[in-house]
Amino acid sequence: MKKIKVWDLPTRLFHWLLVISMAITMILIHIDGLWIDWHARLGYLILALMTFRWLWGFWGSQYARFSQFLKSPQETYQYIQQKDPATKPGHNPLGAWSVMALLLSITIQALTGLFMTDEIAFNGPLYAYVSSTWVDYFIWVHHQNQYVLMSLIALHLGAIFYYQVIRKKDLIGPMRHGYQEVDERHLAADDHWRLRSRALIIFLMSALVYFYFFL
Ligand code: HEM
Ligand code: HEM
Repeated sequence: MKKIKVWDLPTRLFHWLLVISMAITMILIHIDGLWIDWHARLGYLILALMTFRWLWGFWGSQYARFSQFLKSPQETYQYIQQKDPATKPGHNPLGAWSVMALLLSITIQALTGLFMTDEIAFNGPLYAYVSSTWVDYFIWVHHQNQYVLMSLIALHLGAIFYYQVIRKKDLIGPMRHGYQEVDERHLAADDHWRLRSRALIIFLMSALVYFYFFL
């Protein structure tokens, strides 16, 4: 066994920024209608984080790429059936599907938010561009999807707790410092400054677009 870099800095920053902004935006919407503007601003930030992550799945370092961690249903089933599967770098095949479900659900939540209204003082930036039938539909999705999202987050935290405490496999450490103990034959992920600048450009460009057009 040896310790190798698995999560590049951009993926780790993405994750912890996402956790903080998701937590705050969910709390704000439930405490007071006055915080709706900040709920939306954090929503734009989350949208930029999502744009980054979808692109990073193609242009990111080795273990952040979808092609590396997305496995077919057959392979995922085989993984579940193993009693003590080897520790491979990155997401395991089952975890990978839950990551995709999280990314999809968060993206849907942030996108439908753009068409929302609180019917008092706040209209989302794209509210005026669609018919009332579509607005009603997006409002419905924004309301219903929160339960899907909360269930996925609960599942995410439950799975991590299970791995940390019951299976004694540290997943949180690698998401903090980037290093994971794996089998000798695996290669470390790139995490050099050229790659990091690429991530920064992708993120800043999308944040700029959203904040410029929506704020
Ligand atoms: C709002 C709450 C959260 C959301 C939306 C969320 C979302 C995500 C996403 C999208 C990933 C995939 C990372 C990637 O490949 O880019 C991930 C992975 C991960 N998250 Fe979270 N997360 C949340 C809370 C947490 C918390 C509180 C912890 C730790 C206590 C945590 C620990 C981890 C770990 C360890 C991984 C890597 C799992 C693996 O090794 O396969 N997450 N999370
Ligand atoms: C991932 C990002 C987002 C999350 C997690 C999220 C989550 C939520 C939740 C949980 C609710 C409460 C729904 C209910 O009470 O049933 C809500 C309501 C709302 N959200 Fe979001 N939202 C996000 C993004 C956005 C964005 C980007 C906007 C606008 C630009 C927005 C605008 C609204 C509005 C106007 C409401 C309705 C408030 C009311 O009914 O008084 N959201 N959101």
